[in-house]
Amino acid sequence: MFDSEIYAQRRNRLKEQIKSGLILFLGNVESPMNYPDNPYHFRQDSSFLYFCGLDFPALAAVIDVDDNRDIVFGDDVGIEDIIWMGFQPSLKERAEQIGIKETFSLNKLEETIQRAIQQGKKIHYLPPYRPETKQRIAQLLGLNLDNVKEKASEELIKAVVAQRSTKIKEEIDEIEKAHSVTYEMHTTAMKMAKPGVAEKEIVGRIGGIALSSGYNLSFPIILTINGQILHNHYHGNILKEGRLLVNDSGAESGLHYAADITRTIPVGGKFSQRQKEIYEVVLESEINAIQLIKPGIKYSDIHLKTAKIIATGMKNLGLMKGDMDDAVKEGAHALFFPHGLGHMMGLDVHDMENLGEDYVGYDEETKRSDQFGFAYLRLARELQPGFVLTVEPGIYFIPALIDKWKGENKFTQFINYEKVEEYRDLGGIRIEDDVLVTEDGYRDIGKSIPKTVEEIEEIAA
Ligand code: GLY
Repeated sequence: MFDSEIYAQRRNRLKEQIKSGLILFLGNVESPMNYPDNPYHFRQDSSFLYFCGLDFPALAAVIDVDDNRDIVFGDDVGIEDIIWMGFQPSLKERAEQIGIKETFSLNKLEETIQRAIQQGKKIHYLPPYRPETKQRIAQLLGLNLDNVKEKASEELIKAVVAQRSTKIKEEIDEIEKAHSVTYEMHTTAMKMAKPGVAEKEIVGRIGGIALSSGYNLSFPIILTINGQILHNHYHGNILKEGRLLVNDSGAESGLHYAADITRTIPVGGKFSQRQKEIYEVVLESEINAIQLIKPGIKYSDIHLKTAKIIATGMKNLGLMKGDMDDAVKEGAHALFFPHGLGHMMGLDVHDMENLGEDYVGYDEETKRSDQFGFAYLRLARELQPGFVLTVEPGIYFIPALIDKWKGENKFTQFINYEKVEEYRDLGGIRIEDDVLVTEDGYRDIGKSIPKTVEEIEEIAA
């Protein structure tokens, strides 16, 4: 846990921003897999962690802005739980670690909320993403289940997003720790990417690296020789010479900060000429995007500049034609690069996505595009010092999309479909790094993971 002062400062800042009413944070509860005593791995809610730090199920916190009180609700364990779980510190002891003195048992929460409602106080809560949290809020506030999400406090969402977007040094240190385990995961996968090896063997090994470091994964591993399927979680293939292996994976630190890295490896350790040519286009676009990062620049502008580099690279290889400014403006490059350049990262790998992607990545000045590809951009607004984000361009040959666009004669002025057919079975290439926005530019998070053709071929040989 961070120092108690950090959690207290965060709550105080929230009180200054919210001004009146009660803020309710519900921690997550255990979630059963197949029977109640066999739960999924417990993951605390990230905003609860951010403001209250306590990494245990079935807790709630109330921040009373009007009376300047911070309260944690939870139940101390009895002897039966101690027999099964071992000794547990009391809630009071735990709350002291986050600078909170007032604790009550969980059954007092309803009374506290009811009293506040009777006093006409507004209850601010964040939009729930788990059914049980939604149900609990409905019950506590006397709401219809269907109205719970829309009645979440926009004021609180904006205040939480404003705080969590800017990372302090202690948080960046955690992200760096997650990155250093992620370095091991990626370099191990590169060494294992030989013909005849099963995807699941590599997935098991690199997942084990996170676990054996006492960490976890920040999201389910994407590791596939079918990288053209952007979020492919199928790991049943055997690696074959000539295929490209996409590894999009990251560890989550002990305090639950994420890393998120993608590398693309030629099975057997050597890129073919065609693979290398496409790889170099993605690499150039990624390095260029990172170098553009600085406070004040809109990430949507970096996204579009990256799209232009990708389109130009494809034109140089004969897969696109015409004016590439026009092609990018009209969205023709999205046949190959159909997703956004990146997203915020922190306590969540897609940081705060549960609060609403538009609150996190967009603002009054930057509205979401509705163009295919560009519309998937999660972060578009002006960058600020302290933001941590991913930079993850890619080029993919998605047969279903190629066939659809070709059948519709879509963008025939920009796409050379005959040439595209020659690359149809190439798969996908994505390269992703994590970057901190600094006062005057950017800093790569963590030690550099092999990325150039030469570096990857050397380690994978
Ligand atoms: N790296 C996985 C994702 O961004 O969704």
